[in-house]
Amino acid sequence: ASRSVSTGHLPDRPLIDSLLLDAWERYRGLDEGAVADYIPALAAADPSLFGLCVAEVDGTIHAAGDVDHEFSIQSISKAFVFALVCQERGYQEVLERVGVDNTGLPFNSVMAIELNDGHPMNPMVNAGALVTTSLVPGASAAAKWEYIQNGLSAFAGRRLALDVQVYESEAATNQRNQGIARLLQSYGRMGFDPLETTDVYTRQCSLLVSARDLAVMAATLADGGVNPITREQVVDPAVCIRVLAALASSGLYEHSGEWLYEIGMPGKSGVSGGIVTIAPGKGGLATFSPRLDVAGNSVRGKRATRYLSGVLGLNLF
Ligand code: DON
Repeated sequence: ASRSVSTGHLPDRPLIDSLLLDAWERYRGLDEGAVADYIPALAAADPSLFGLCVAEVDGTIHAAGDVDHEFSIQSISKAFVFALVCQERGYQEVLERVGVDNTGLPFNSVMAIELNDGHPMNPMVNAGALVTTSLVPGASAAAKWEYIQNGLSAFAGRRLALDVQVYESEAATNQRNQGIARLLQSYGRMGFDPLETTDVYTRQCSLLVSARDLAVMAATLADGGVNPITREQVVDPAVCIRVLAALASSGLYEHSGEWLYEIGMPGKSGVSGGIVTIAPGKGGLATFSPRLDVAGNSVRGKRATRYLSGVLGLNLF
């Protein structure tokens, strides 16, 4: 079953099911890494959880392990809010205001802002995500939040809820993000009040998703913006290809090159342990396992994604 190059289509369905189970069994015993604890509520996550899910663009779902366990979406939200803002404001305006170049520095770097004359560089680091959220339609923080909750729910094909405990825990400890938003304001980069924007951003990171939801959200980006379950056109195809380009260059922060080298597809990770990977035209792959490496990426998720990219023939290169 081992493939190394993209075939242009997914393998037969029973083979996808058995390869997913195979990946789950291979990596479930891996106990390297540590659960994130800089957001206090995340430290309580059960490190044994492990789920793998593939959503095909026609809505067929393949699942192994804990695919229905809900966790806060965290940084993975950045990709989908970026898509919504590109749809609303036009991807050319967003290119100028947010950028699409890698910083080569960690996701919460302040130095990256200073080194680039106050430019946030890309939508996947916190600086760029804060500017992106400041550009979300709506005259108030409440209106922007509603827009984001509705938009991310459209990507998932079901109503996503806020994890109030994670939100309150992060809101009480996110002085660094508040500082980043203030710094960006000083450079004239923010489209809305910095502290209110940080609050909306913290909420967007606290939306509850499962690996199954993330696979459907990824499959929506894989199919030119059409949700595989509801068939709703959430964003335009022209937006999707730009979002995927931004993910390829910065979805795994300063390790995006290594990710492309090993996996060969656009992806996005979050500190709660989720990773989404998009196989254009084919579908979305989502993994969930809370233990992270030093860069903040799920250890089992990364290994399982690398394995599945190979055996499912997903590598774009
Ligand atoms: O802003 C933060 O620090 C978190 N809400 C999200 C960070 C995150 O998920 C980084 N991902 N690897």
